[in-house]
Amino acid sequence: MKKIKVGLIGLGTVGAGVAKLIKTRHAYVKAKFNVDLELKTICDLKIDPKLRKSLATVKATSNFHEILNDPDIDVVVELIGGLHPAYEIISGALNKDKHVVTANKAVISNYGRELFRLAHEKKRSVYFESAVLAGVPIIKTLTEGIAGNQFTGLYGIVNGTCNFILTEMSTNGLSFESSVKLAQDKGYAESDPTLDINGMDSAHKLAVLIALAMGKFLKVKEDIYTEGITHISAEDLAYADQMGLTIKLLAIAKKNNNKIEARVHPTLISKKHPLASVNNVYNAVLLDADALGDVLLVGQGAGQMAAASGVFSDLINLAIDNETGPRTWIGDNPNEIEKIALRSMDEIETEFYIRLMVLDRPGVLSKITGILGQCGISIASVTQKAVNKNSFVPLVMLTHVAKESSVKKALQKINQLKEVAAKPVAIRMEQL
Ligand code: HSE
Repeated sequence: MKKIKVGLIGLGTVGAGVAKLIKTRHAYVKAKFNVDLELKTICDLKIDPKLRKSLATVKATSNFHEILNDPDIDVVVELIGGLHPAYEIISGALNKDKHVVTANKAVISNYGRELFRLAHEKKRSVYFESAVLAGVPIIKTLTEGIAGNQFTGLYGIVNGTCNFILTEMSTNGLSFESSVKLAQDKGYAESDPTLDINGMDSAHKLAVLIALAMGKFLKVKEDIYTEGITHISAEDLAYADQMGLTIKLLAIAKKNNNKIEARVHPTLISKKHPLASVNNVYNAVLLDADALGDVLLVGQGAGQMAAASGVFSDLINLAIDNETGPRTWIGDNPNEIEKIALRSMDEIETEFYIRLMVLDRPGVLSKITGILGQCGISIASVTQKAVNKNSFVPLVMLTHVAKESSVKKALQKINQLKEVAAKPVAIRMEQL
């Protein structure tokens, strides 16, 4: 019987879920995996009294060093989130020869390479299944299940809060603000929901996926173009729907000719594509795997037990995997990394949805299409969404594939026309 003693740091929503699973599934794990998983110490600045009572036999502290300095603890579970002191906890635990389980996408995306090297040096493991897609096993899938594949494309709905908000807005007619509030109440959103809605949470997760699938550690802020969902209106969702499209916040990575492009932005996709039916708090990642072909992983990507499931499974995997030594992570091959360059956003080519508020008057459309034509942008369709002579009406256009830099330039010019009121809305479209 393998005995694993756990120190759990961070007793928020996910931490409480993990504590609950360790307690209630102790006998099950013992019987099924021959592993005796003991929660030895919990740590947080404040612990909910009801939770504390339910863990009465477990030692509690508000000082994480007590866990790091306890030679009896084999695994540190870090669930406080954010960069600091989470990074210090994880590196401190490895330096004290402990394994680590974390759900921290910010730390893994920013310090992953360094931490994996430290773990390797220390012959210890870092498990982080719940950092992306909560308990849906995307990390295990990439590093084990389809480890033999190379990936040319990756498309993910990786933020439960944003997907929930977009679903609520498009299907239940809820306002943006009430949808955010509901996502917070349900425990999906980050403690600061700005990170969800501005796309940063998705960018962190995309960086982790790219490191695993494509072997390059990107700098999240500098290398990943990130646009959130705050400018998406119910109107655009409705127009998209009328055209057989839907809007999802997608995390996208493509790799070809030794260049990677990485971007997070609201994206129009066909309603017929399987990703379009991934709604509410569900997340999904679609991978173009060269040997296997397309593979799609779907499941609940946020919420207490969805995330706790991944952390708890990591603990079991860690106990089982260590029978054969520590696991070596991912495509951290310095030679290859040197060769893969980053494609700049200006070079990227996609189709676009453009919505303008224009004066309903003869000659206006030709001015707009003239500018698009001068910038080399070909139009696929134009629809005027209302008739109101000499007043402003919405005009919705779809373009053929166009260069990002050309669209930017055209929209700047269009925005200067006196017949155009309000800043043009532009949403990229992907044919998946
Ligand atoms: N706040 C995240 C989301 C969950 O909404 O997807 C944890 O990653």
